[in-house]
Amino acid sequence: MYQSKIAGLGKYVPENVITNDDLSKIMDTNDAWIQERTGIKERRHIKKGDGNTTASMGAKAAKIALERANISKDDIDLIVFATLSPDYYFPGCGVQIQEMLEIHTCPALDIRNQCSGFIYGLSVADQFIKTGMYKNVLLIGSENHSGGLDFTTRGRSVSVIFGDGAGAAVLTRSDHNGQGVLSTHLHSEGKHALELSLKGPSTNHWVPEIIAENKAAGDESQLEDIPYYPYMNGQFVFKNAVVRFSEVIMEGLKANGMDVSDVDMLIPHQANLRISQFIQQKFKLRDDQVYNNIQKYGNTTAASIPIALTEAWEDGKVKEGDTIVLAAFGSGFTWASAVIEW
Ligand SMILES: CC(C)(COP(=O)(O)OP(=O)(O)OC[C@H]1O[C@@H](n2cnc3c(N)ncnc32)[C@H](O)[C@@H]1OP(=O)(O)O)[C@@H](O)C(=O)NCCC(=O)NCCS
Repeated sequence: MYQSKIAGLGKYVPENVITNDDLSKIMDTNDAWIQERTGIKERRHIKKGDGNTTASMGAKAAKIALERANISKDDIDLIVFATLSPDYYFPGCGVQIQEMLEIHTCPALDIRNQCSGFIYGLSVADQFIKTGMYKNVLLIGSENHSGGLDFTTRGRSVSVIFGDGAGAAVLTRSDHNGQGVLSTHLHSEGKHALELSLKGPSTNHWVPEIIAENKAAGDESQLEDIPYYPYMNGQFVFKNAVVRFSEVIMEGLKANGMDVSDVDMLIPHQANLRISQFIQQKFKLRDDQVYNNIQKYGNTTAASIPIALTEAWEDGKVKEGDTIVLAAFGSGFTWASAVIEW
């Protein structure tokens, strides 16, 4: 049985910074509310005409990861792309990035597990490398949220939280036994699927139907529930997140005969700074043992862990020999953890 390790990391975020004050000019919100509830100060949004899409941002992050891994695109055996905001309904972003990076005809797989997407993808990559079927896997998480959020007061509890960006990792077969991905644990609970969801357009709620509804309503701003904007039961999500984050982190540590004292760095999915702080306090971790950057980028869903991991690595906060724990929770509900010996 082989072991996989992360050989290179990269990130890309659009240049366009949107502060809380910027949002308060277009909806009834304010910097104090957003910072107090979420810790977010600003986020990045794709600007019309800047050429960024979910796939193209992913390609930019992937290029950096490949360079740092010193692995040629010709040696990539599998592309795994995690997103909830693909450029097209079909095909997925995996094949788009294959074309953008001129990667040969290897398989390209799309992962639809929202905020847990990157760890789900990491687990898929790890399994293929472990069995020896593939040696090098390019894993990307990327999101264009700003193109699909409700920036009126009606949508404020969701739209202030999310931002755009991409992160990527190159996974390769590890030469040193014990170094690399030690374990991944994945979970989901479909009974809460609609608590954080975007219902349309979909085959259940098809475009002509939506157009007809809007026409009937006359003025879209009068509609309370618009299926093509995300719905989030915020407090319910929060309560489930803190429980599942804790469980899945402990599950990963226990599987490796470790406990919280073995963790050098926890990189949680950047859902909400208050969730990360809750976990930090619960596990009695110091500030330098938990990496957060939601303050700058908001919640970038499948991109948040690879962006945070890349930044932590760039800052020298992830070093050889460190035990790194990744953990995520999100829509589905889905949740997951990975324990990595760097
Ligand atoms: C979204 C979240 C920040 C909202 O915080 P909350 O404390 O639950 O706030 P509520 O939704 O109860 O709203 C409280 C009040 O603030 C208002 N409000 C909502 N969004 C607001 C905004 N952006 N600006 C100002 N006021 C806002 C509400 O209308 C409500 O007003 P009311 O009391 O007059 O009715 C919080 O529930 C949360 O972080 N949930 C988890 C989200 C998450 O992690 N999602 C991603 C999972 S991967």
